[in-house]
Amino acid sequence: MKEIESDLFFLGVNDRSSDLFEGQWPLPEGISYNSYLLRGDENVLIDTVDRGFTERWLRKLEDIISPEDLDYLVVNHLEPDHGGSIPVLRRINPELEIIGNDKTAEMLAKFYDITTGIRTVEKGETLQLGDHELSFIPVPFVHWPESMVTYDKNRKVLFSSDIFGTFGTVEGGIHHGQTAIDHSKNEMLRYFSNIVGAFTTPASQALEQLDDLEIELIAPAHGPLWKENKERAIELYKQWSAMEGEPGITIIYGTMYGNTEKMMEEVAAGVREAGVDNLEVIDSARKHPSFALSEAWRRQGLIIGAPTYGNGLFPPTYNLVHLLEKKKLQNRTAGLFGSHGWSGGGVKVLEKTAEKLDWSLPADSVKFNGKPGRDELRTGRKMGQNIAETVLNAKN
Ligand code: FEO
Repeated sequence: MKEIESDLFFLGVNDRSSDLFEGQWPLPEGISYNSYLLRGDENVLIDTVDRGFTERWLRKLEDIISPEDLDYLVVNHLEPDHGGSIPVLRRINPELEIIGNDKTAEMLAKFYDITTGIRTVEKGETLQLGDHELSFIPVPFVHWPESMVTYDKNRKVLFSSDIFGTFGTVEGGIHHGQTAIDHSKNEMLRYFSNIVGAFTTPASQALEQLDDLEIELIAPAHGPLWKENKERAIELYKQWSAMEGEPGITIIYGTMYGNTEKMMEEVAAGVREAGVDNLEVIDSARKHPSFALSEAWRRQGLIIGAPTYGNGLFPPTYNLVHLLEKKKLQNRTAGLFGSHGWSGGGVKVLEKTAEKLDWSLPADSVKFNGKPGRDELRTGRKMGQNIAETVLNAKN
């Protein structure tokens, strides 16, 4: 338990043992599930934690007040990483009033069999709960339909739910400047691209609404709190929601016998020759798509190459491409290349994705049969230069 400021407590727990979040995203640096207590003449809890951590979390709560003395539970988001401990808490304290919106009420029944003791709030409604004045702002689909954020008007604290959250545990102190944003930026981007990425329009709309609030402290549902760094956190989120990449290039490739790899080396050389230093090369078969997706989100230029496999695309690269479509990564300057042995098909899959996501393709795709010949390698190098120049010119 940590007191963030007078009568505002952090009850978050670190999960250092789960391998995967949502059963699919690796957690090499763990994750935290954040919950907050506002103590006063009425006691308000903001969110709970994953059910695997209920015991640990309850002990933190009991260090401050008895769970029976809680008056309200605000459910900003009931995905099980935040709502998993609601049923246990309700059993301990059947009088606890749950605050959410209409969607929250529907989903509480479906996920947790809870149908009573729920107070629903309207968009932007403010409640005076004892000495706490709280406003509730819906942010649907950031990350689920019931998602909302809660603004404490007296303290100017925004309980931002998944928005501004990161993968990675909270190390030692949770306070503001104690964890520099640069330390968390990579895992924050990975959380954004993996979890919130498909919902960039709602995320941008949510950020616009938050622009109207005077915020002293951002208290998200994952990772460190943002105080000194809050403007930077907001700026990064706006950039990622708008899918504005850094002036750099991510190359994602697959290879079976080294021929596509050989082409990739030429393309990468072309990128460097044109003056792009911010270049990341990812082997789609060896890096989990979670990280590749994050790197694709990071940079403006995206070059993808892979062999044809059974008239389609090499499966490890296809997994990533499928994910890019699911997450709707747009606004990219892209290049495509690939090999085939007899009939083609791999590059066609990439071209369809580029069309669907409206990527701009400054150069024709580079296709080759078997191993790339000298002319084909030259064309690949030229394509790398071309895309790099386009990215650099867009920056200026
Ligand atoms: Fe952190 Fe959408 O749950």
